[in-house]
Amino acid sequence: MRALLGLIFSVLLLAPPSWAQNVGALPPFIQQQANVPILHEGARIQPVYSQHGMVVSADKYASQVGQNILMQGGNAVDAAVAVAFTMAVTMPRAGNLGGGGFMLVYDAKNKTTRAIDYREKAPLAASANMYLDENGEVDENLARFSYKSAGVPGTVKGMELAFRLYGSLDWQALLDPAIHYASNGVRVSQSLAESLQKKAAHLWKSPAARKVFFKQDHFYSAGDTLYQKDLAKTLVTLAKEGADAFYKGDIATRIALDMKKNGGLITMQDLAEYQAVLREPLVGYYRGYKVLSMPPPSSGGVHLIQMLKALEQFPIQQQRWGHGSSDTMHVMAEVMRQAYADRSKYLGDTDFVSVPIKALMSDLYAIRTAKGISMASATPSELVEGGKFLPDESPQTTHFTIVDKWGNVVTNTYTLNFSYGSGHMVAGTGILLNNEMDDFVSKVGVANAYGLIGNEKNAIEPEKRPLSSMTPTLVFDADDQFYMALGSPGGSRIITSVLNVLMNVIDHNMNLAEAITAPRMHHQYMPDKVQVEKGFSLDTLKLLNHKGHTVEEVAPMGAVMAVKRAPKGQKGYVAFADTRRADAFVAVQTQPQDNNPLARKDMDWLSDLFE
Ligand code: DON
Repeated sequence: MRALLGLIFSVLLLAPPSWAQNVGALPPFIQQQANVPILHEGARIQPVYSQHGMVVSADKYASQVGQNILMQGGNAVDAAVAVAFTMAVTMPRAGNLGGGGFMLVYDAKNKTTRAIDYREKAPLAASANMYLDENGEVDENLARFSYKSAGVPGTVKGMELAFRLYGSLDWQALLDPAIHYASNGVRVSQSLAESLQKKAAHLWKSPAARKVFFKQDHFYSAGDTLYQKDLAKTLVTLAKEGADAFYKGDIATRIALDMKKNGGLITMQDLAEYQAVLREPLVGYYRGYKVLSMPPPSSGGVHLIQMLKALEQFPIQQQRWGHGSSDTMHVMAEVMRQAYADRSKYLGDTDFVSVPIKALMSDLYAIRTAKGISMASATPSELVEGGKFLPDESPQTTHFTIVDKWGNVVTNTYTLNFSYGSGHMVAGTGILLNNEMDDFVSKVGVANAYGLIGNEKNAIEPEKRPLSSMTPTLVFDADDQFYMALGSPGGSRIITSVLNVLMNVIDHNMNLAEAITAPRMHHQYMPDKVQVEKGFSLDTLKLLNHKGHTVEEVAPMGAVMAVKRAPKGQKGYVAFADTRRADAFVAVQTQPQDNNPLARKDMDWLSDLFE
């Protein structure tokens, strides 16, 4: 009996499964495959896919540094800190120690998002009329290209705060790659060479910058090696002594001395008192997706959400509308006009002035804005004195987005404002100074370098932060699962670059690569123009003209670096580095590391380091 049972059992075990008895049938894993969305087909351009972490930045060196940190077991914040320090070396026109920015961190385990504000602050000696000449006119050179153009830098404190909250590797390990590239050199890319040439007139005037950014009396060319020995020393000091070296120690002393010598305002006290701060991200909903973005002192989050909510009132996803139709572009222009008009009226640093954030982002206001739009014709912007505009943006600010294999996400935008900031470098440090003070309103009604106007809300006051447009953004789906993270440089066009890409994904069902490469449009109230990239249908642009819009073709806008969850049914992520930046690169983590989830680590060793 036992033998018989054994025989039956083994026959059962050995019997081929039913699908195998039918010669034409396929095994279940292949049958199920038919329902899985195919990622890499059916589109003209494809994003990069990864099951694990990804780093997307405007610089190949930096993306690879971030990738290495992820592969050592670091989390997204570790990678972000290393990327930010590396870019200060490898992409010096925007990466920085002497500037500031904003970071959003999504902690996947706790499902929380924090916003880190490390925007520069006006020095204590700053005052509302500091850039006005004897005739009461704005002295642009003083505001943009002098030692007085610099706000108190926030980047080093910002990175330290992110690291204190979330970092898990050694602080030194996160600075090592930057030190390596500063002392052993980076290969000059064509875009780095070009940016140095474009800014040569300013960089030449600073003895320290001249020493670094020129080969004696020549320009650097693509393929040369660029060494930054002073910057390497500064980074070594930061690695050993932590952020305090920059704000209280040797580096602070050098900055304060250089300021004094050259008519700048930043003192030891300004540096010692600087703090990066945690802020609550702004939250809004667009067609069921939850959008989290940066609150003031950036105007980015308020206006991104305000615009999305007004646009939600229109059937943009429908075929008759779609990307690039005159109806879609018309309502986008009208909604943008309203948002930038509000920006000029209401926005400033909320530590100093009140801003009607809730009202601007409210349903009521969105409905009112939408109702006020005539589909037949453009609403002319009021005439405002001084609404001039720099037609071509040069690549200055920079954004990177990182996801790690645990699902933590960092989306970070930082800047010196212009390419190479004011062009001044602090003697002996390799640190370029920002010219972020130009983001304040120097005089009511007079536009800043991005054509942005404003009022007393954004007037200069000691310790106040100048209003920004930087818009690092996270999006979650209706189940509160991570959906996408993005951000962009582009001055006043940052907010609308993010808006264009979000609409392309959510409304127009584009994959991330299509969404980022598609032509963008922008309106900022003043000047009263719809600005478009090359690539829209000329027929559409004519229709916009007929509605009363002045349409102007401009140089490429923004440079969006983004990560998105892979389409439903696929594990992992897709990413795309905007092809508007020649050196942009997605680096993919190829080996998972399990030992190091984003968690608050034992801080004992760190307090020693920062003592
Ligand atoms: O904070 C701001 O809004 C500006 N300082 C950003 C400057 C910028 O994006 C330059 N861009 N490409």
